[in-house]
Amino acid sequence: MTQNGQALTRTQVTIRLGRRTVTGEHHPGTTVLETARTLGLTPPSSCEAGNCATCMARLEEGSAPMRANDVLEQDDLDEGWVLTCQAVPEGPSVSVVYE
Ligand code: FES
Repeated sequence: MTQNGQALTRTQVTIRLGRRTVTGEHHPGTTVLETARTLGLTPPSSCEAGNCATCMARLEEGSAPMRANDVLEQDDLDEGWVLTCQAVPEGPSVSVVYE
């Protein structure tokens, strides 16, 4: 399948929460948090607007730019923390761990 002349390749997302690790295909436009729920996990969340950091997790592989971020500082970002309610996976593979 192609769109605008570019091949569409789905992102494989791996998410670890507690003792569970799940892997599945990312649906375009959905966040890490939504992906986690689709894969059967129930991660912590609250505002789902980028304001509270309840949903934060560490990005261990790949890229997941955030739509909004009102709480994480540059130091947090440098350490790989993302707000999973705002982070949208991109690229071939993304791995996230809720700590
Ligand atoms: S749930 Fe509040 S920042 Fe994600």
